[in-house]
Order: sequence, then C-alpha cells, then structure tokens
Amino acid sequence: MYLTKEEDAILGGEQGETRQELLEILVAIGTVFGAEKMVPIKSAQVSGASYKTIGEWGLTWLSHLDATAAVPAVLNPIGMDRTRYEEMEISEDFAKKQLEVINAYKKLGIELACTCTPYYLHETRFGDHLAWSESSAVSYANSVIGARTNREGGPSALAAAIIGKTPAYGLHCTKNRLPQLIIEVKNAPLTPDQAWYGALGFLAGSIAGAKIPLFTNIRPDDDSLKALGAAMAASGAVALYHVAGVTPEARRPGDLPEPNEKHIIDAGEISALFADTKVDAVAIGCPHCSIRELESVASLLEGKRVLKPLYIFAARNLIESAGGLTSRIEASGAFVFADTCMVVSPAMERFSAIMVNSGKALAYIPTMCGAVARIGTTKECIAEACKR
Ligand code: F3S
Repeated sequence: MYLTKEEDAILGGEQGETRQELLEILVAIGTVFGAEKMVPIKSAQVSGASYKTIGEWGLTWLSHLDATAAVPAVLNPIGMDRTRYEEMEISEDFAKKQLEVINAYKKLGIELACTCTPYYLHETRFGDHLAWSESSAVSYANSVIGARTNREGGPSALAAAIIGKTPAYGLHCTKNRLPQLIIEVKNAPLTPDQAWYGALGFLAGSIAGAKIPLFTNIRPDDDSLKALGAAMAASGAVALYHVAGVTPEARRPGDLPEPNEKHIIDAGEISALFADTKVDAVAIGCPHCSIRELESVASLLEGKRVLKPLYIFAARNLIESAGGLTSRIEASGAFVFADTCMVVSPAMERFSAIMVNSGKALAYIPTMCGAVARIGTTKECIAEACKR
C-alpha cells in the first residue's frame, strides 16, 4: 500500500502515540482488503457510542486515546437522550457510564450529535469520500447521495476521523459499485407509505445478502429510500443499492450494466408482513426522523391523546430546528427523544411487543430488545398508540 511521507511519519510516531496506533489500524485494514492508497475523507460517523454495545472494555480503550479529529465527525445513537434520560427511566448507573463514553468522544473532537442520519446535519455530496459506520447511514450515503463509504467498524471510523483519511478499497472504487442482481417489484401500490418500503427492504435484504441490488418498477422519495436501505442493511448486509430512474448512479437508462441474476418480489409478499399483533408500545424514527416525518407525526397526532407509550426518535439538531413540532407531538403524551433510538436504548427492553413503521426495527427489535416487533404504516402506528 502506497503511503505518503506524512503518513510514514505518523506511523513512525512523529505525531504522537494515538495517531500512530490509529493509522496502524487503517493500514492493516487497507492491506487486508488490497487498498492501493489512503483517500482523504469529508466526514466520519462513529459507531460504538452506546454503553449498551461497547461496555466497559470499549470505554477503557476510548479513554486512553489522545488526539483530535481532523474532519467533521459525529457519533452514532447512544443509549439515552443525554438531557432527558430520567424521563426514559434509564438507571443512574447506565446514565453515568453513558455520559463517560460521550465525554471520551468529546475529548477526541467528535461532535456529540448522536445520530444515524448525519446527512441531515452536514452537507454531503455526490462523490464525497466518507468513513461512516452505521449501516443505514452508509446505505443512504452510497445509494441516495452517491457519496462513497464502506461500512466502517467503530474503531476504523474513529481512526479515519482522527487521521482524516480512509483506505481506498471496496465502495470507494467505481468498479465495485455496479449492480449484481435485479429486484423487480410487481404490483406496487400507487403511493406506498415508507413502512411499505421498509417491508420491501426487509424481504430484499435477505435475497441480496451483501450484493448490490438494482430495483425496477418503484419510485420512492428520499424518506422511503432511507427506509428501504436501512431495512436491507439489517436483514442483509447491503451497503449500496440502485433504483432505476431514481438514485443518482442509475438515473438514466443505460447508466449501469444489467446484471443477469433477477428476482421478483410481489406486493402480496410485502402486505403479508403487516400482521395484526397486540403491542404494548409504539416507536417511530428508525432511522432517525426527517423534518417531513416529524411534521407527518405531528399532524396525525393533532387533537389526540396517546394511551400507549409512543416514542419518536430524531437527531438533536433537527429537533431543535423543528420549532414547535416537538411540543405539538408531545401535547399528545408522546415523547420525542434525541441522541438515542428504539434499538440501542435499554429503555425499550421493558416492553414485550413494539409496533414500528421501520423494516430495520422489524429485523432488530426481537434480538436487540427481546420483544416481538410488528410493522405498520405511520398512520397505523399513531392509531395503535391512541387505543388501549
Ligand atoms: Fe438508527 Fe437505531 Fe435504527 S441507529 S437506523 S434508529 S436501529
């Protein structure tokens, strides 16, 4: 792997032990995956932020590092809203450890925006190289924006944030971004809800595995693309997908070669996932809500009172910029929490069945929260929260 003089100097320890240790991680990964060089990145998104997932070992490792991020970098969702954790009924012990984790990241110059939707906070453009780690964010960056990132682990994303570079392999290279199978969708409704796209992604991810699918016959908007990609990254390991006529690398006919492998998903298979199961809580915002999604939730809740716990998750900066939307939503008795989510927070573990409008949450809630998961449209989720 070719290294510049500056990179060689960092490896020689000239810029301190932490930068040396972190560049060693990046060079080792680049060597394993056949990268020819390092590439400068525009931003990083660092996972391994919830104390629920990194535990004491992760906190000890973070605490010994001593350097500052070279590019804008944000954190993945943590285990609680860092200003409202008491309302989430988070234990004092967990809260103390979680605050220690984010303070360790703060010392490293990582912005305490704890979100899986960093693209709502910092402008990310077509062709930008990134080092993002949360799977839905990676999918959105690659597929919807046309930026370039592999799915980084927590340590490699942090290393890239501190060094400002990542090894150029995988999805950083044009030749690795071509579709490998077609997924043709049959009988899609005229205006499907984003939950429908989440359910489509839930099915498509298990067909695609880690391959790159090219969808035909669907016209999702940005929120629905977000739902589709997030679900495929959970039920499969899809880090990039294309939608013919919609996503930037597949916008015009002939932009991409047509793969030979082809699968059909019929709308009937998607509808079958919308089963009617009794739930004791409802959660919206996986991935974190956009302003448009918050507006839709606020309108659906207008003049209503929730009778089951209803949690909505979004990035802190987005909530703060949403004006009166949060108070409109919370007037119903629902909560809008920042920094965390229904999967990484221990707060959701006290429920036995949770209704969501997300294909990703449908895939993860059973294993991560130990609860049954049911998927419904946003409208159905709100209706469920308002009945006993
Ligand atoms: Fe984001 Fe948590 Fe879902 S990190 S994609 S809200 S599981």
